[in-house]
Amino acid sequence: MCGIIGYAGGRAASGIVLAGLRRLEYRGYDSAGIALCSADGQGAGEDETGALLLVKTPGKVAELEQLLNGALKEQPQFSAAGAAIGHTRWATHGAPTEANAHPHLSPGGIVAIVHNGIIDNYRALRERLAAAAPKRARSGMWRSETDSEVIAHLIESCYEGDLRAAVARALERIEGTYGLLVMSPLHPDTLVAARHGSPIAVGVCDGETLIASDVSALISHTRRVVYLDDGDILAATAEQFDIASARVRKPCAPVSRRPTDIDWELDEIEKGGYEHFMLKEIHEQPQALANAMRGRLVPGEAAAKLSGLQLSAEELARIDRLIITACGTSMYAGLLGKYLLEDFAGIPVDVMHAAEFRDRNPIIARNAALIAISQSGETADTLAAVREGRRKGATVLGVCNVVGSSIAREAGRGVYAHAGPEISVASTKAFSCQVAVLAMMALLFGRARRLSREEGARMLEELARLPELAQAVLDREGDIAAVAAKFADMNSAFFIGRGYMHPTCLEGALKLKEISYIHAEGYHAAELKHGPIALLGKDTPVIAAAPRRSLSRARTLNAMQECRARRAPLIAIATEGDAETAKLADAAIPIPDCPEFAAPIPVVIAEQLFAYHVAKQRGCEID
Ligand code: M6R
Repeated sequence: MCGIIGYAGGRAASGIVLAGLRRLEYRGYDSAGIALCSADGQGAGEDETGALLLVKTPGKVAELEQLLNGALKEQPQFSAAGAAIGHTRWATHGAPTEANAHPHLSPGGIVAIVHNGIIDNYRALRERLAAAAPKRARSGMWRSETDSEVIAHLIESCYEGDLRAAVARALERIEGTYGLLVMSPLHPDTLVAARHGSPIAVGVCDGETLIASDVSALISHTRRVVYLDDGDILAATAEQFDIASARVRKPCAPVSRRPTDIDWELDEIEKGGYEHFMLKEIHEQPQALANAMRGRLVPGEAAAKLSGLQLSAEELARIDRLIITACGTSMYAGLLGKYLLEDFAGIPVDVMHAAEFRDRNPIIARNAALIAISQSGETADTLAAVREGRRKGATVLGVCNVVGSSIAREAGRGVYAHAGPEISVASTKAFSCQVAVLAMMALLFGRARRLSREEGARMLEELARLPELAQAVLDREGDIAAVAAKFADMNSAFFIGRGYMHPTCLEGALKLKEISYIHAEGYHAAELKHGPIALLGKDTPVIAAAPRRSLSRARTLNAMQECRARRAPLIAIATEGDAETAKLADAAIPIPDCPEFAAPIPVVIAEQLFAYHVAKQRGCEID
């Protein structure tokens, strides 16, 4: 996913922006670029582009740094440049080449932009801009194949002396999503940023301004950030920034946005001795789970306290239907939420992929509430689902990890997952904390409805044990790595399970394919025989999740027998000491004994470690 960082201030901008780009590397990218603006106009040649230095590469930030160092030797006047914008690009429109890397310049060189998002009407805009250009300027007018370049052209065509006004006018003609950062040699101390559907945050600092698409690029400079809302256009210098909104008035009118305090520590976004962020975050789960539950379990009442939901006792009793919406791993946490909320609170729950929810005109009953789950709080489909839910008058509750993120703000009420920053692209600890939050919601709703004090107390006791269960799996990492090594050369794998184990299988398969590039499917164990069993054979391992206390364990064991009959190698994720299950399999991954509803946490942690070690064995680039 692309990353954006910009700086205006008294220090050398190049180093600060490069460091920011390194912080954004975890998001994945295939090219990188930087534009520096020399504040005193030194270096300005005959044309207006002279005060800008542009360096781009279809490689890593380390390569960009080398190229930039070379360029700064040749043009040392840019070494002290006080403004810069940088970008890590994940190619969508056009291959990862130098020309397609950001920043992009306008034809006259008076505007440089970096952009995250997609411009839907870029073809039509290109045609219009080309038709308006003098004939001789048309050939070679586009230097890249990207949708983003058109933004720089548009801003230049709208420019009449005021950079923010030009950006605002250009954006009126754009359809699509953007997190945008703009710089101009005509305003060398100014950055302009805009947001529609792709996050932008500005750091509140003394005497300098940093703007980024992700707070992890900001927190070594400040813990106070202001998130832009959709429609916001920000103009910043080193000393100050102000925000205007195109939603209030076209082209824009001043608005104020409250800062958010980020409580992440710097070491949380560093590897801290681990080889990969993914491994570090897998290991952080006992602590993350403890943080997610801290102060939220109330033993005296055998209940949970989730003040952020702002639900009165009357509302807790009145809500009689829940819809959970999310994407990817967060949706699989949502599927577990369905089991938890139905089993403990007796509330029927539908789980809808957020993209479906936004597209399908969902039916929202009068007493229904919508729960939107998102680690980042910025996933476009989930955010659109939140807006659709609000439009239809539903009570919308967010379960987000990133404090102050768009979904958290727009949902208005909810519960933070408190997993801490998740830097690895593969979601691990956020999943566990989302499940813990949903379990606490089940306890909260359950106690307001049909759960007795004794049942509530039992559930609460088991929830309090989750960090211990997580640690017990981590303690067996060596065994899991050995199983992973044995199967690392597989080309395809199936994960099977029933009940609570079914969503864990979907998540296990997602983790394996995401980081090891192995084809993997998560299936309900009963579904195998309805077709997919045809794919099983000696080269297709099946990972079966069958904890001892799950209601349908016996039937999962039957499905394992069916796999065996097809000569598929079997890996059992089984309760420590469950010899019957282990005997059926070629290898066993032990998890600690616990009730069925708690088992998804140890099972998924085992799957995360399995996926990690398979990927490592295969030499994959994990983070
Ligand atoms: O930030 P979100 O939770 O909204 O992200 C949703 C998915 O993109 C995300 O869970 C994705 O599936 C994971 N990174 C996979 O590990």
